[in-house]
Amino acid sequence: MRDLPTITTVERHFLERKGRNPHATTEFCWLLSGITLATKIIASQIQRAGLLDIIGTAGRINVQGEEVQQLDEIANETLVRCLGYRGNVGLLVSEEDDEPHVIKDSGDGGKYIVLFDPLDGSSNINANVSIGTIFSILHRPKTNHADVLADVLQPGDRQVAAGYVVYGSSTVLAYTAGHGVHLFTLDPSIGAFVLAKENIQMPSASRTYSVNEAYARDFPEGIQRYLDWTKSKEAGYTLRYIGSLVADFHRTLIRGGVFLYPPSHKSPEGKLRLLYEANPLAFIAEQAGGMATDGRQRILDKQPKAMHDRTPLIIGSKDEVERVLEFWQP
Ligand code: AHG
Ligand code: MN
Ligand code: MN
Repeated sequence: MRDLPTITTVERHFLERKGRNPHATTEFCWLLSGITLATKIIASQIQRAGLLDIIGTAGRINVQGEEVQQLDEIANETLVRCLGYRGNVGLLVSEEDDEPHVIKDSGDGGKYIVLFDPLDGSSNINANVSIGTIFSILHRPKTNHADVLADVLQPGDRQVAAGYVVYGSSTVLAYTAGHGVHLFTLDPSIGAFVLAKENIQMPSASRTYSVNEAYARDFPEGIQRYLDWTKSKEAGYTLRYIGSLVADFHRTLIRGGVFLYPPSHKSPEGKLRLLYEANPLAFIAEQAGGMATDGRQRILDKQPKAMHDRTPLIIGSKDEVERVLEFWQP
């Protein structure tokens, strides 16, 4: 037999964990393929955005109080459609929708909950800056909760899997299911995410901090002291801030450093959302040897109170996150 190159897709990679992960089943991989299909469709739309006249706002404000971009809606509808008929999806939770989509009852096979930020960094779309999709997968307990939210509001520690796709110079998918973090690159010539790197480890330290300095005077005093220190000669830090969480995080995963979105008077709980931004990235960060906290507690320990809860987020290399906490103990 001709020795063709080995192509390891996300689904095959996860299925190879059979025996080590109770969720490593063909039916879970069918769910994963709903995510890979949706993000391939989203990538194709983004790459031709300027030609398809889909750049710009959709003319409505979402539950977050933010202006919705057309591509936010396209990404959201694509994910709902691709995941809606996967057979084992019970609930879908999206940054763009007020309430969960109820697809199937838990007793009827709807055993998983998929939560997602369909398009992260959408304010950057018309500047052609990297944006992304972030997803988190929870197991739906066998309950007969009339209120489906009770099934959704689980701490991040219970995630079955989590990941993101960054639509950048290449389209890269990162995921973890509790056995390390693995990177896949979309090969447009075959239309598949192909394994590029396994068991990514975040550098334990790196003198790069990532924060929107424009709000510095509005941050807690301890954070301001940390930001003053990073600019000192002895500290020697560099600042990198893209304004797309998924891109800022991916750089931090690969090169190390720390990303901060602290609380401010304008956003007392920070801007980023717990269920479908902080939790999935915190799972990835910890699996890669990093750390993620809200300043008081581990992100993955937080008990969500509402679907669109926001949280302060300090995430990245262990040494760098701990250095921030030396200055800021809220
Ligand atoms: P989204 O586009 O999903 O609403 O997320 C935008 C977030 C995040 O991507 C980024 O880190 C942050 O907004 C940037 O906020 P500022 O513009 O306040 O810095
Ligand atoms: Mn986002
Ligand atoms: Mn978004």
